[in-house]
Amino acid sequence: MRDLTPPRDSLDRIEIASRDEIAALQLSRLKWSLQHAYDNVPMYRDRCKAAGVHPDDLTSLSDLARFPFTHKADLRDNYPFGLFAVPREQIVRIHASSGTTGKPTVVGYTRADIENWADLVARSMRASGTRPGDLAHIAYGYGLFTGGLGAHYGAERLGCTVVPVSGGMTERQVTLIEDFRPTTIMVTPSYMLNILEQYRAAGMDPRASSLEVGIFGAEPWTNAMRAEVESAFDMHAVDIYGLSEIMGPGVANECVETKDGLHIWEDHFYPEIINPETGDVLPDGEMGELVFTTLTKQGLPMIRYRTRDLTRLLPGTARSMRRMEKITGRSDDMIILRGVNVFPTQVEEQVLTLPALAPHFQIVLTRDGRMDAMTVLAEAAPDAASDAARAASAEALRLRIKEVIGVTAAVEVGTPGTVERSQGKARRVIDQRPRG
Ligand code: DLL
Repeated sequence: MRDLTPPRDSLDRIEIASRDEIAALQLSRLKWSLQHAYDNVPMYRDRCKAAGVHPDDLTSLSDLARFPFTHKADLRDNYPFGLFAVPREQIVRIHASSGTTGKPTVVGYTRADIENWADLVARSMRASGTRPGDLAHIAYGYGLFTGGLGAHYGAERLGCTVVPVSGGMTERQVTLIEDFRPTTIMVTPSYMLNILEQYRAAGMDPRASSLEVGIFGAEPWTNAMRAEVESAFDMHAVDIYGLSEIMGPGVANECVETKDGLHIWEDHFYPEIINPETGDVLPDGEMGELVFTTLTKQGLPMIRYRTRDLTRLLPGTARSMRRMEKITGRSDDMIILRGVNVFPTQVEEQVLTLPALAPHFQIVLTRDGRMDAMTVLAEAAPDAASDAARAASAEALRLRIKEVIGVTAAVEVGTPGTVERSQGKARRVIDQRPRG
């Protein structure tokens, strides 16, 4: 793999500014954002009044802790446009996330919001090792999902030649990668595994592909998965994070030179980590729920939005801006099995330790009497697919889950191709427990 560290003089000045300078910018932008939300969004005004706070009460960044949280349900309750802070005519783009139940979450952007978003995705891509003039293959879904169009505008902003492939049609993805010779691919990590599989099925060597950088996000993935993809393609695998409520992809991104967690673009988003039960703000370094306040968003300002993503804040390294550790999982995806907390990423790590297993898996939850039970559906690697080999790898995975994660799970190892493949975000957990 080539050293793709971006030249220091290509960075935005604020990326490497002093902490004091970043904090001063955050404070002035935070005052603006609170006032903007208060003046233009009835829900924020009502909430602040009920909590006895006013935007003028914020004189330091830590005063933000006095302001009320915003939850995903607030977007649903104000569906579709009730939290927009500008007249609808000034919104130039809508995105939405489907959600598993009920109405989708709708978000809107002014022209200035779209400009900032493109700048931040361009910054994220540059941090990942992509350079102006590179060819970028974008396999995030285009449409209401923020992945495709978010990546697209950023890649154009950086000066790339953009191939807007979107997700799906895996055979065609491989053909286009071979024919157009992109150096950057942007896609969910789970869909990258399908592309890898297609390379192998076609008898082609993925290490010989033109790809040098993969910018993977939209779902949790582990350092074990990074190692798998980096060695399979001989490319850098870098993590990109974001969520539609706050903007979309490009809220935070890893730097290719360190790959040590994601630098949060703190000039546009103010992060806090809270104890999800009490709501108390936790000091940097402690694990908890990530909360974001937007600092520049016009269309849909978000004040203390609870992401439900679990991570911790760490000091800056390659940039002055703080990092968030690679996400362990969402609080919604946490499985509690006889008192032990389990995240799908922990299972992913164990699946990837066993060379006899393919990197695809799902977790099925059932209820056996009053006890919850977990079954891991894994899949044999093509060269280890005999009945005996599958039985042996099922037992090996069962033991690793027991020893390392500390829970008892049933493990089924199917023949190659039996685990559901994703076109975008992988569905890791199938919950078959009765409701209520
Ligand atoms: O997934 C935006 C995005 C698109 C990010 C493409 C990166 C690349 P939503 O559909 O609103 O937006 O889902 C947001 O996905 O709260 C996390 O739970 C999860 N997520 C996103 N990026 C990562 C990541 C997009 N790098 C939700 N690691 C977030 C772990 C991630 N989880």
